[in-house]
Amino acid sequence: MKIIGSFPNTRLRRQRKTKWIRDLISENNISHRDLVLPIFVREGKNIIEPIKSMPGVYRYSIDKLSVILKKVELYKIPMVALFPYTPNRKKDNKGSEALNPNNLICKSLRLIKKKFPKIGVMCDVALDPYTSHGHDGVIINKKIDNDETIKILIKQALLQAKFGCDVIAPSDMMDGRIGEIRKALDKNNFKDVSILSYAVKYASNFYGPFRDAVGSKRILKGDKKTYQMDFNNSLEALREVSLDIKEGADIVMVKPGMPYLDVIKSIKENFKIPVFAYQVSGEYSLIKNAIDRKLIKEDSVIETLVGFKRAGASAVVTYFADQIARYLK
Ligand code: PBG
Repeated sequence: MKIIGSFPNTRLRRQRKTKWIRDLISENNISHRDLVLPIFVREGKNIIEPIKSMPGVYRYSIDKLSVILKKVELYKIPMVALFPYTPNRKKDNKGSEALNPNNLICKSLRLIKKKFPKIGVMCDVALDPYTSHGHDGVIINKKIDNDETIKILIKQALLQAKFGCDVIAPSDMMDGRIGEIRKALDKNNFKDVSILSYAVKYASNFYGPFRDAVGSKRILKGDKKTYQMDFNNSLEALREVSLDIKEGADIVMVKPGMPYLDVIKSIKENFKIPVFAYQVSGEYSLIKNAIDRKLIKEDSVIETLVGFKRAGASAVVTYFADQIARYLK
């Protein structure tokens, strides 16, 4: 960019002198319309259980889901993302519970679609909340088997679509799953069900509190580096995205968020596709703890969210969604 203008004819502080002029010239902003709220569901009755590692975030039993969904409705948050806290006794090495039509996700879908039909619902497609080893896929000969995993993921996606899931979100990082899931959805007359691909998901240290929230932390054996991306890479992210677009992804996700703003920007510039950012659990807990200890102000959350928008994200999945939507209101 060529730099135009010089002092004293140009004084950029003229643009900052009052709130109203700052508002008028602002290039980006964040609103409730840009947010997706993740919700953790659990078994039992009458339970709203705090998650220790994520202050301000709770697990809801299904009969209590309407407590949080009413807030989502009130603050006009367009979509929620559902995650199950599956009891260990229901986990096995193939994640069979993922295909149980009465699992926590299917039950929640039925409830939400009946009582809150206007709220968009996104569901993760991956096996980690259901496997006894905590991995996103099935293990065959000591490896996460790509193609065998996809066979199960297809069934999981179809089940979610059947109960009204609006946005299928594969977060497993198996190769080729977007195309296979799209094909299966179309064949079963779910042509209007969207696919949001977690196309660029890094093997990150920032997922710790989430794994605690869904109960996979203590059981996870090893790490996820053979399927999630190496955080040293960004060109590889473009390859992931281009393959997923070809396979039928409607939206792509970059995850985690804050350390990967460069990746969001280059995807947006290269592909012009809607990109969502996931401000993950570790990011949430860092910021939330600092706010609770009065080290930084709540406004710092807005600053991080606008950062995603500046980088090119259309929306942000964040555990702050309800708190910030209320704050903005
Ligand atoms: C699992 C999944 C993870 C998250 C969303 N879906 C964790 C993982 O891959 O281990 C992380 C979300 C967060 O940290 O907030 N497929």
